[in-house]
Amino acid sequence: MDQVEYVRELAGHKEIDTWMRTMLLYNSAIKEIGTKIDILNEEFQETHRYNPIEYVKSRVKSPESIAKKLRRYGFEDDILNMVTHCNDIAGTRIVCSFTSDIYRLADMIGRQSDINVISIKDYIKHPKISGYKSYHMIVSIPIFLSDAVVDTRVEIQIRTMAMDFWASLEHKIYYKFEGQAPDYISRDLRECSKIVSMLDAKMLSLNEAVIKAKKEQDASFMSTDDDLPAVREG
Ligand code: GTP
Ligand code: MG
Repeated sequence: MDQVEYVRELAGHKEIDTWMRTMLLYNSAIKEIGTKIDILNEEFQETHRYNPIEYVKSRVKSPESIAKKLRRYGFEDDILNMVTHCNDIAGTRIVCSFTSDIYRLADMIGRQSDINVISIKDYIKHPKISGYKSYHMIVSIPIFLSDAVVDTRVEIQIRTMAMDFWASLEHKIYYKFEGQAPDYISRDLRECSKIVSMLDAKMLSLNEAVIKAKKEQDASFMSTDDDLPAVREG
């Protein structure tokens, strides 16, 4: 069942119990997604000899920000509205080294049979006016409780370290000015966002060049190995 049905079924319960049970779902969903990401990262390390993921951060939205968001959307701040209209209560942010890792990971996550991809926003191909870049997925994952299986929504944000650096700085500035930053600061941020794209592209091509050069070097070592006597002991 989905979360809305689940909360409807809890109707006769005390509100605090419904709240605790709903939060249990979100916390569990974050754990499930976290484990899946760990497994993908370890498998990748095993087969390709490198970790695509630099770090992962997860959080459950605070009750205050949930209420604020619902009121911003024009809804009353109750639990049913929360599970119906808020997709980012459980959030996981994956930070990668290279842009190519982002699409590879998103694809691997999307192909898992128990994950349902509800929506995708690609702010890398289509950055926000602010300059914000990141790849967003809203997914749902089944949470197995003793008496129900509840598909629970999680927002997954995937970005490079450079995009993450930009987003956290911009977030701090946004809050400092309560969304009303002077024009020249917003302009500089957009300028920095372009630099982030350049840096990401440069780092990616550098990494590709490193892989190619290493392969060529290994191949030339192999061919010189052929000229060596097979047994060198004694
Ligand atoms: P929210 O109401 O902010 O959740 O937006 P939304 O439901 O329209 O979703 P969207 O995909 O636009 O944004 C979701 C999340 O992405 C936000 O909660 C932020 O964490 C992040 N985000 C989106 N836009 C920006 C931005 O301009 N700057 C920064 N720093 N983060 C952003
Ligand atoms: Mg949000």
